[in-house]
Amino acid sequence: MKIELDQLTPKQIVAELDKYIIGQEKAKKAVAIALRNRMRRQRLSPEMRDEVAPKNIIMIGPTGVGKTEIARRLSKLCGAPFIKVEATKYTEIGYVGRDVESMIRDLVSVGVSMVKAELQESVRLEAEKRAEEALLDLLLPGIGKAKEEAQASGLPAADLAQPAADFAQPPELKPPQSSRARQPGARVSPAATGTREKFREKLLRGELDDKVVEVSTTKTQLPAIEIFSGTTLEEMDVNLGNLSSLFGGRKKRRKATVKRAREILIAEEMDRLVDMERVAELAIERVEQMGIIFIDEIDKIASKDNRVGIDVSREGVQRDILPIVEGSKVNTRYGIVDTAHILFIAAGAFHMSKPSDLMPELQGRFPLRVELKALTKEDFKQILTQPRNALIKQYVELLRTEGVELDFLEEAIDLISEIATEVNSKTENIGARRLHTIMELLLEEVSYNSTDIKGQRIRITKGYVEERLRDIVQNQDLSRFIL
Ligand SMILES: Nc1ncnc2c1ncn2[C@@H]1O[C@H](COP(=O)(O)OP(=O)(O)OP(=O)(O)O)[C@@H](O)[C@H]1O
Ligand SMILES: [Mg+2]
Repeated sequence: MKIELDQLTPKQIVAELDKYIIGQEKAKKAVAIALRNRMRRQRLSPEMRDEVAPKNIIMIGPTGVGKTEIARRLSKLCGAPFIKVEATKYTEIGYVGRDVESMIRDLVSVGVSMVKAELQESVRLEAEKRAEEALLDLLLPGIGKAKEEAQASGLPAADLAQPAADFAQPPELKPPQSSRARQPGARVSPAATGTREKFREKLLRGELDDKVVEVSTTKTQLPAIEIFSGTTLEEMDVNLGNLSSLFGGRKKRRKATVKRAREILIAEEMDRLVDMERVAELAIERVEQMGIIFIDEIDKIASKDNRVGIDVSREGVQRDILPIVEGSKVNTRYGIVDTAHILFIAAGAFHMSKPSDLMPELQGRFPLRVELKALTKEDFKQILTQPRNALIKQYVELLRTEGVELDFLEEAIDLISEIATEVNSKTENIGARRLHTIMELLLEEVSYNSTDIKGQRIRITKGYVEERLRDIVQNQDLSRFIL
C-alpha cells in the first residue's frame, strides 16, 4: 500500500493512519503536516528550499498508546526513505555500542534498496529477455556457435554456455552473451536455429519448468561485516563496502529447475543492468531531500540531574545526535550525506523525565510537540475491532484456518475492554498492550483444543469472558503475573 508522497494530502495521510490507529488525532495531524511540508519544500526555488528547515516533532505519551504504531504505519505509506531507531541503542563515541551516525548510514541503505528496486523494475523486460536466452543456452549446450568454439578450445560446451558473469565490466547495457549464438551467422545451421525456437516455445509454455539445469550465480557474498557493528569500529563498514567487490564476483554453480533458474537469472540480469553508481547518487539525493528518521525512546536519553555513571553516556548521545539533527555531513559507503533536511520524529513516554530535560539545543531542534492521550475503555473497544489488523480479526482468522468459527458478542468485547482498563489502573498502565495479554488468556482453551472442536462455532459471550477472566482480575497479585 505505497502511495506516492506528492499525491497524499494531509487529510489522506490521516485517513490512512485511521485505518490502523484509533484516536490520537493530534499526533496524526502533526505527522501528516510534516510529511506534506517536505513535498511543498520540493516545489520551492533552490535558494528558498535551502532555507526551509524541517519541523521536527516530538511525540509524547504514555506507553502503549500508539507512538511506535504511527511510525510503523507512516513508513509503509510514505514512499520516502524511512527508518525507525531506538535512541537507547546508541552510545556516545568512545563507548561500546553504535555511534549515532550509523542511523544515517542505515537510512542511506534503505534509500539505496528503494532506488535499486525501482531501477531494476524498469529493466525487468530486458532482463527477462536475456534470462530466456541464457536458459536456452543452458538447455541446448551443443547448439550454435558455442559448440564450435568449444570444440576449437577443447572445453566442454556447457562451460561456454554458462551466462557470462563478468564483474570487471561496467554494468551498462551489454549485448547479451547468447545473442551471438542466435545470429544467423554462417556457422549456425538452420536446423539448430529451428531447434532453439522450438525449445523457446516449450519454455514459454512452461513445459520445461521441472527440468533441472546447472546455473552459475555470481551473487555478491558480503563478508561478515556484522562482526564490526556493535563496536565503535562502525566506520569500518564504510571502508569494507569497497572491499566487497573483492569478495563478490565469485561464481557458484548450483543445480536448479528451469523455473527457479529463470528467477535466478532474471535477478542476476537485473542486477547487472542497473548502474550502482547512479543508484547511489539518486539514493543520497532522496535521503537528503525526503528522508525521515523516527527516534523512539528519546526520553530514555534525557536525564534531569547530571549523575555520573550511565548518564554520562546519555548526555553524550544527545550531544552526538545534535549535529546530525542540526545538519552535518556524514560519510557513508555510498557517499557523503548532508543531514540538514532530513525529518526527525522523536517519541517517548517521558515518565521519568520531561522534554525540558533534554539539552536546550536539542529541544530547539524539535519545535513541534504533540501529546498522545492515555487510552480509555471506549478506545479499547475500537482497537479490538476497528483497525485493519484488529486483534479480534486476527484471532478469528487464525482459528478459521483450523475450522473453528469465533463469534464475539458485543457484550463480551465491552467486558474485555472494561477488564483491560481495570487491570491497567490497578497494576501498571501499559496501554493497548494489555489487550494482547488478555486476549491470549481468554482464548487459551479454544486455541489449545482447536483440533477437538473443529467445525464448531464458538460464541464468546459476556459469561464466557467472565468465567475465564474474573477470578484473575479480582485477585490483584494474580493479575500482576498473568495479565
Ligand atoms: N491508538 C491505538 N490504536 C490502535 N492500536 C494501538 C493504539 N495504541 C496502541 N495500539 C497497539 O498497542 C501496541 C503497542 O503500541 P505502540 O507500540 O505504538 O506503543 P508506544 O506508544 O510506542 O509505547 P512505548 O512508549 O512503550 O514505546 C501495538 O500493538 C499497537 O497496535
Ligand atoms: Mg514505542
